[in-house]
Amino acid sequence: GFNEPGMGQMPVRAAGDLTPRDVQDWWPEVVDLERLRQNETKADPLGEDFDYATDFAKLDLDEVKADVAAVLKDSKDWWPADYGSYTGLFIRLAWHSAGTYRSGDGRGGSDGGQIRFEPLNSWPDNGNLDKARRLLWPVKQKYGRSLSWSDLIILSGNVALEQAGFKTFGFAGGRTDDWQPELVYWGPESKFLTASRFSHGNGRPADEGAIPQELKQDLGASEMGLIYVNPEGPEGNPDILASGERIRTTFGRMGMNDEETAALIVGGHTLGKNHGASSKDCIGKEPAAAGVEAQGFGWKNSCGTGAGPDATTSGLEGAWTATPDTWSSNYLENLYNFEWRLTTSPAGAKQWIPVNADQVEFVPDAFDPEKFHPPVMLTTDLAMRYDPKYGPITKRWAENPAAMDAAFARAWFKLTHRDMGPAARYVGSEVPDEQFVWQDPLPSADYGTITSSDIDMLEGKIRDAGLSTSDLVRTAWAAAVTYRDTDMRGGANGSRIRLAPQKDWPVNDPETLARVIAAMEAIQADFNAMGTGRKVSIADLVVLGGAVAIEEAAKAAGHEIDVSFSPGRVDATQDQTDLESFEYLRPAADGFRNFYSERARLSPTEMLIDRADLLTLTVPEMTVLVAGMRALDANADGAKHGVFTDTPGALTNDFFVNLLDMRTEWSPVEGEEYVFEGRDRETGELKWTATEVDLVFGSNSELRAVAEVYAYADGEERFIKDFAQAWNKVMMLDRFDLR
Ligand code: HEM
Repeated sequence: GFNEPGMGQMPVRAAGDLTPRDVQDWWPEVVDLERLRQNETKADPLGEDFDYATDFAKLDLDEVKADVAAVLKDSKDWWPADYGSYTGLFIRLAWHSAGTYRSGDGRGGSDGGQIRFEPLNSWPDNGNLDKARRLLWPVKQKYGRSLSWSDLIILSGNVALEQAGFKTFGFAGGRTDDWQPELVYWGPESKFLTASRFSHGNGRPADEGAIPQELKQDLGASEMGLIYVNPEGPEGNPDILASGERIRTTFGRMGMNDEETAALIVGGHTLGKNHGASSKDCIGKEPAAAGVEAQGFGWKNSCGTGAGPDATTSGLEGAWTATPDTWSSNYLENLYNFEWRLTTSPAGAKQWIPVNADQVEFVPDAFDPEKFHPPVMLTTDLAMRYDPKYGPITKRWAENPAAMDAAFARAWFKLTHRDMGPAARYVGSEVPDEQFVWQDPLPSADYGTITSSDIDMLEGKIRDAGLSTSDLVRTAWAAAVTYRDTDMRGGANGSRIRLAPQKDWPVNDPETLARVIAAMEAIQADFNAMGTGRKVSIADLVVLGGAVAIEEAAKAAGHEIDVSFSPGRVDATQDQTDLESFEYLRPAADGFRNFYSERARLSPTEMLIDRADLLTLTVPEMTVLVAGMRALDANADGAKHGVFTDTPGALTNDFFVNLLDMRTEWSPVEGEEYVFEGRDRETGELKWTATEVDLVFGSNSELRAVAEVYAYADGEERFIKDFAQAWNKVMMLDRFDLR
């Protein structure tokens, strides 16, 4: 990369720095609740009642697109357009906005408009995309809150493609903007454009000079500050085959297969150019480090005119095709027609040109109509030809460009819509009719929804089905807890809990689960046979079962409560469920069920916080849910850790009361990680066992403060009410059909 280490090193705070220190600056081991505070902030200046989808739906999308198309061709002196249009720049903006998405935890992606904020705004790979957004500001300003930045950014990529003559697959609006940077683990490095995230996998010994290829769990890029991979090859090493493997790994982390990946790279680099006319010494600081007078602009170029013909972004230079502002099949023609040799750009970056470069100068200059250049390829582009899997795919397309266009249209739609969640969130006149399995589709109900008297009757049937509180609670929880707000996948709707792969996950206790589902299926069959014209889904029965169990459990503790329930969930089929992509939803840990596995990349407590964040919970919501699940005896394997009560199955506040009781003394259980035992201080008698996840509510000062509230002498009623509310929130997280 052009932005060599040296810029973007994490600074050490200077002595005399007067800013407050975080608790974690002093004690890194103290669990950081900041993630959950994101869920409680009221930072949105548009207010809680603002409903973006409704506003967006009222827009005339053709008018918006015409406005973007006008901007596209309106070259500004402060950032002159290559070839008279911002085609390449806008496509790259959309791609970099969407491309941070990773399947592992669903974080990243265009939804939220996170590319506006640090760190993404100042990532070296996002160089000069600050200019692209400033060009679009007049459009954003005109439509205001009715057009989010995140929608506008993706839409402008589509408009650029369409103006270049490509027919896109469509566009869905509905992405909402965030107002602060999302806290995301982007990797272990503290310096940009370095990588300590790869290791050598099995069979690839480091001492044979092989490039390490095993990428740390969840991450979707190969270096800190890059969207995907280093264009020059792994760690700047122009090794085409190793580069191909890196591409496969990182695009795979976004759920893209070889064909989709190849289509994206071939299609993307059909348009636009690389920018590396000036030396890297000319380039100033990234936006976050530039002075206030820069007004959010970064990478100020002090050489030549600093822009246009002198523009420097990646440090690579040149265009891939003879048609940088018009859609064509020239990328693959060039890739296959020439043999390529390694050279360096004016800025010193490694790139490739045809061996007979001086005879094939047919690529127009971005500004001077008299000048022509040879085409260029990046190391990553050559992987599209020489990688043993990408090669045959692109060879086929070289002979059949229409097939490439079709593949690119679909892959681009997936890239730019992948993190939006279910199609129920899509808004606008360009939403395609076709459904894709990556959207986790749900069938639409062709029957009436159950009524409140049906619900009363079904509740009775569930009570009589011989299922325990813990059976019902665990099943409902297992169904709902897969939801992650980061990409709005998972949740109870669709009842995929009864389908592969979810039904077989050990955390779901497959035997108990099968028994509960069988009971629900019997109730469903009876009801649907009644001929009312209404039907009940397993998804609704599973959630209703949880509500019934909680009401009973509250009664057992002496409280009458009504757990709210909204019917209308549907049952998906196995065909509508992509096995591989659902594996990403499998919990590596679930502190609410006191479950922790080897696949977890963080401590049990940190995994709990992470899960709570995916569920958009606040600190008090997380706290009541853990305590309630323990009281309800809902641990994954039926273990008694954290079940601090003599009446398991009754919804008491015993978890808090007993945790805070000074008569108990805790110590780690020898030979077991994260497990503790609580003994009576006086008699030494064993009273309870617990995991780290249980004890943190007494040890962490902030969590203890919340736990105290629910342990108050009059705390049980508040606890039950708050638990029922938090529970219902989790059950409703995926009900986009109701919004
Ligand atoms: C430009 C790398 C994939 C679309 C560039 C540039 C680099 C690069 C280094 C030059 C930036 C500059 O100096 O202005 C890569 C790598 C990829 C990749 C390493 C993955 C292996 C994609 C994909 C798309 C895309 C998937 C879109 C589908 C573009 C476009 C430009 C560009 C349109 C031209 C920007 C302009 O004209 O200003 N890419 N890219 N790239 N890339 Fe990619």
